[in-house]
Amino acid sequence: MRERDESMKWTTAKIKALKGERKIAMTTAHDAPTAAMAAAAGIPAILVGDSLGMTVLGYETTLPVTMEEMLHHAAAVARGAGDALTIADMPFMSYQPSVETGLRNAGRFVKEAGADAVKIEGGALRAELIEALTRNGIPVLGHVGLTPQSVKETGGYKVQGRTSEQARKLMDDAMAVEQAGAFALVLECVPAGLGAKVTQALSIPVIGIGAGAGCDGQVLVISDLLGLTVGPAPKFVKRYATLRETAERALSAYREDVESGAFPAPEQEY
Ligand code: KIV
Repeated sequence: MRERDESMKWTTAKIKALKGERKIAMTTAHDAPTAAMAAAAGIPAILVGDSLGMTVLGYETTLPVTMEEMLHHAAAVARGAGDALTIADMPFMSYQPSVETGLRNAGRFVKEAGADAVKIEGGALRAELIEALTRNGIPVLGHVGLTPQSVKETGGYKVQGRTSEQARKLMDDAMAVEQAGAFALVLECVPAGLGAKVTQALSIPVIGIGAGAGCDGQVLVISDLLGLTVGPAPKFVKRYATLRETAERALSAYREDVESGAFPAPEQEY
């Protein structure tokens, strides 16, 4: 068996050290082959986002996603991720009830799924939990701005931090996450100017999604970037492929071949 070169493994310390050195490309993944593709493309950190509730599991929001579902997908990603860092998203109500609940569930991602870190939505409100997790050896990726688990309270997926009061609150939340010990922060759906300001104010990497080019890095949901999702994508998405159309064309060709008798041909027979 080939020995694994541990020095090649991405760690949270290595990700932190990229700030100001080079931009950080992150993507989501939900299974081993997708994680392996991302790792082969040189992507240093893979997020097992709870957006998989919509992109894979067919839910309308991220709210119904359970710990068991996330553990199942996080374990698959960790198995396929190679040297990339695997970050598991903590689903709705897996950490909100108490710090102890958050600690216990975050621990399951590390112990049972083999994740390297967890992601938690929320700013100052989550500082105590972020501190407790990092003190106990579980690295945390923060997430402020648009936080999809709060969709019922915010009333929709809207750009955040548009007023100066909202922008100040968002900056305070970002600072609180850094002070609590997070190794990086996801900043979702804020005006580009605010994205750049938060990035300059923080000493940890700020990974934007719809937060402009001034961030230290970017994250996109893999189904969006590969063109697997149906319907119009949010403004911040850039599609790098149209895999859904490619797959539908391939499946139609296969069906036609089966119906016409063109498949299997002699070369596919024993
Ligand atoms: O769940 C997810 O995929 C996320 C990203 C959008 C950052 O939280």
